[in-house]
Amino acid sequence: MITLGIETSCDETAVGVCDNGVIRSNIVSSQVVHSRFGGVVPELAARNHIKVIVPIAKLALDIGKCELNQIDLIAATYGPGLIGALLVGLSFGKSLAISLNKPFIGVNHLEGHLYALTTTGIAIKYPMLMLLVSGGHTEIVMVTEPFNYYTIGKTLDDACGEAFDKVAKLMGLPYPGGPYIEKYAFQGNVQAVSFPVPQPKLFNFSYAGLKTAVLYHTKEHTEYRKEDVAAAFQEAALGHLIQVVEQAVTKYAIKCLGVAGGVSSNKRLREKCRQLAEQQNIQLLIPDLQQCTDNGAMIALAGAERYKRFGPSPLSLDAVAREPMDEISLGTKNH
Ligand code: KG4
Ligand code: ZN
Repeated sequence: MITLGIETSCDETAVGVCDNGVIRSNIVSSQVVHSRFGGVVPELAARNHIKVIVPIAKLALDIGKCELNQIDLIAATYGPGLIGALLVGLSFGKSLAISLNKPFIGVNHLEGHLYALTTTGIAIKYPMLMLLVSGGHTEIVMVTEPFNYYTIGKTLDDACGEAFDKVAKLMGLPYPGGPYIEKYAFQGNVQAVSFPVPQPKLFNFSYAGLKTAVLYHTKEHTEYRKEDVAAAFQEAALGHLIQVVEQAVTKYAIKCLGVAGGVSSNKRLREKCRQLAEQQNIQLLIPDLQQCTDNGAMIALAGAERYKRFGPSPLSLDAVAREPMDEISLGTKNH
């Protein structure tokens, strides 16, 4: 079954072609227009998706060696995300489905990140704990079996990626800041500055205090070394993630830890996750770097699995700004 996956929930216009779980093409166009604003401007994101969605889809089909009439299923993200941005990919996907007379399925963006884990080629062992760390989300989701989700912890304020972006912005680095912080941290001395590792509240996360600590430090030490601040911030931010995950792994008898979302491309986080999985003797699934950040293939992979189990979505499916995975879990509404 050939699935076309469309993703426009934030600032990536992405289309992928997957054939029975195998990626044939995965084209991602990241919008640079936001970098001078230090964050995503929703209206600009939507307008830019409109400009490039058709050429990106054509390229994905060309590289995937797939004719329009060979597509069996069209999958598009319907949420959570920026409504204007989501509507571009969602409307494009629905229109294509109508014109080709093919089934359409809407995909929850977070479930898309989960299905990126299948690209590791390793079968998921259940129950799995998924750490989802991106620019908009920081949560731990218990996955007891396919499509059965229960969020056990989430951020109480900023998402982890958002904290990376904000700290980068206050140091004058471009958006998205995560990769810049990682690059600077690599050359920094982690002991030169000390930031407090936030303390977990049950299995929840918090980044507001750490972000403020960095702000005060940079104001009080105007001659600060960006490399050292980046290294100390990164260590505290990732240390917090690992501390909460370790507590959850210890409490619940899980067999596998899955790590997904943009921040999971951070090499220091990947190393820390590997150490944790080894200590706890559990399976670790972290996808390749391209599968960590937003892309169309992950939407195609998730859409195909959901379609096989639940059938197509109604064409009346609307875009939603918020939708925790618990709301698409077995026994609740299905798309
Ligand atoms: O999953 P994603 O592509 O989009 C969302 O759904 O948000 O994640 C983007 C986020 C941004 O906040 C970006 O700064 C962060 O992931 N990020 C990183 C790294 N690469 C991307 N954070 C830390 N280290 C990285 N290497
Ligand atoms: Zn994402």
